[in-house]
Order: sequence, then C-alpha cells, then structure tokens
Amino acid sequence: MQDQWIRKRAIIKLLSSVQFVSGEELATELSISRAAIGKHIGGLEEYGVDIFSVKGKGYKLATPISMIDEKALLERSQGRCFYFDEVASTNGFLLKHVEELSSGDLCVAEYQSAGRGRRGRTWVSPYGGHLYFSLFWRFPQGMAQAMGLSLVVACSLSKVLEQFGVAGVGVKWPNDIYLDHKKLAGVLVEMSGQADSECNLVIGIGINLAMSPAQAQQIDQPWSDLSQQTDLPNKTELALALQAQLIKDLKLFEQSGLGAFLPRWQQADIFENQQVKLLMGDKSISGICRGIDEQGALLLESEGEVRAYVGGEISLRAN
Ligand code: ATP
Ligand code: BTN
Repeated sequence: MQDQWIRKRAIIKLLSSVQFVSGEELATELSISRAAIGKHIGGLEEYGVDIFSVKGKGYKLATPISMIDEKALLERSQGRCFYFDEVASTNGFLLKHVEELSSGDLCVAEYQSAGRGRRGRTWVSPYGGHLYFSLFWRFPQGMAQAMGLSLVVACSLSKVLEQFGVAGVGVKWPNDIYLDHKKLAGVLVEMSGQADSECNLVIGIGINLAMSPAQAQQIDQPWSDLSQQTDLPNKTELALALQAQLIKDLKLFEQSGLGAFLPRWQQADIFENQQVKLLMGDKSISGICRGIDEQGALLLESEGEVRAYVGGEISLRAN
C-alpha cells in the first residue's frame, strides 16, 4: 500500500472516534508534522471524506466510513480479487484486463475518481463511504444472449440485501435498486467480444452505505443509503456475499435464461401495475407497467395494448 494511504487510513481511524481529535494529537500519533496532518486532511476532503473541523477542538468524521478488511476479502474471495484505495473505475480496471481474467474475479475499491453509470453518467464514489464492486464473467453464449443481464444482477443484489436484513428494497428496470423509493444502488454491465460466441462481461455494482451531505449535493435525483439500518451491513461481508450470489445466479442464467428470474423480478419490481412513463430521447410514452418479458424487455400497457420496450436509451420513471 502506498505511504500516503497508510497515513490517510490511520487518520481516518483516529477521526472515527466520537470525540474531536486535535491536529497536535494526530501529529503525535502518526509521528509527522502538524503541517503534514493539515495536508492529509485536505487530501482526504478532496477524496470526498467529509470532516468536521472546529477551532480549538480539532477534527472528527462528519459521516462514518467503513473500509474493507483486505485480508478477509482476498482470502475468502472465490476468484482473484484486486483491491485498491483508489482507481478510476472498478469496471474500467477489469475491462482493461479481460484477457487475463477468469469468471468470478473481482475488483473492489474505496474510491473511484471516474465512477460511471449508464450513458456516461457519473456515479458519485467518495472514499470509504460506499461499496464499489465489479465482477468479471466470461459468457459463452455471446453478447446478444446477455441482454437482460442487468436484471439478473439486480435480482442477485436485492436478494443479498434482504439476507443482510435490509427491508424495503425494490428493483427498477433496467438497472437500479431502490430503498424506500429512492436510489440505493446501481448496476452497470459492460461487455466486449462477439454477438454470438464467447464474450467478456464486467458487472459493476455501486451500493450506498453512508452518504455525506456534501456528496449528496452532486446527485440530481432522490437517493438513499444504508445508514439508517439498525445493523449496518459489514462491507467486506457484503462484497463476499454478493460475489457468491452472482456466481450462483449467473450459472443459473446460463442454463435457464431470464425465465428463471421472472418470479424474483416480479416480487421486487417497484413499478409493476403502476402508472409510469418511458423516456426515449425527447419522446415520452405513458402507460401501466406490466413487468418484463423473457428477453428482459419492459412491458408497457398503453391504449389497451401491451408492448415490449428494450434498449439502453430508455429510462423508466413514475408518472
Ligand atoms: P435510468 O437508469 O433509468 O436511465 P438513472 O437516472 O438512474 O436512470 P443511471 O445512469 O442508471 O441513471 O445512474 C446514474 C445516475 O444516478 C446519475 O445521473 C445520478 O443522478 C445518480 N447517482 C450518481 N451517483 C449516485 C449514488 N452514489 N447514489 C445514487 N444515485 C447516484
Ligand atoms: C447506474 O445506476 O447507472 C449504474 C451505477 C454503477 C456504479 C458502479 S460502482 C462500481 C462500478 N464501477 C463503475 O464505474 N461503475 C460501477
């Protein structure tokens, strides 16, 4: 681990106490100068860590941070695991190395400088605040058959969150997980390879654990996190459970297709039988959401007819 991260991690640990910690105390604990502490604190703020600073008292974390237990993650991961303090995007990292990877390999980071969502949108990824997770999968049936995969992943994710005792989780077509009707997590599946033979899939998942008010300002729609849960899931356990569930569900998807997931999707679908609109560029169609079909298309009832809609350019919204 880089020296700067050893120091920054030590500072985070000290600032996690309920009491304020003075700059002098930090400097003594870390055996570095007061000025160096000031630089690290400024650096952490640039990585999105929200720190209270009160004159005469010192510093304290404004929002709790939970970091991965690296040793446990690497030891218990079912495939290889690449763990970073910072990376541009965990999806980007795996995509760059597809030739060397095997199905089930992971990339997990504490911070993404260029976390991404669909269509080049930004995924807000402050240091230590949330889980940024990507899993590699080699899919024998080709990209054309991988359609609907983000729905499988959303089913896996909602199952794992329920196992961790999170109540009120729902899925929104095609790639979102909602908690109490606000976005808690997102799924981004990126692929390379052939339409009809083996292709490489990178399945990216971001789950909000504890969002600071400063970071929340960058998000332009209602969001949620897990900070209100009585038992905040342990990030390492969450990542390992997610890997295990995804491996199981991806194998099932390869054997049985999306049909095997329709009951799970239906159970978690927050919009089923609700009045919704589909946004497609500057066009919008209103109707009643009737779930999904076996290809993963959204079924919309409008003017007495149910039609299937599919494609990366479509966004579903409540009407
Ligand atoms: P859709 O997928 O239906 O088109 P979307 O607006 O959710 O809609 P995505 O590309 O799936 O779009 O997700 C990216 C969007 O998610 C961003 O534009 C922002 O509004 C929001 N967002 C970014 N970071 C976070 C985060 N950490 N938590 C919740 N929401 C976020
Ligand atoms: C979305 O809702 O649009 C999808 C968001 C996906 C975010 C995750 S965080 C880990 C992985 N790396 C990325 O750059 N994006 C995904």
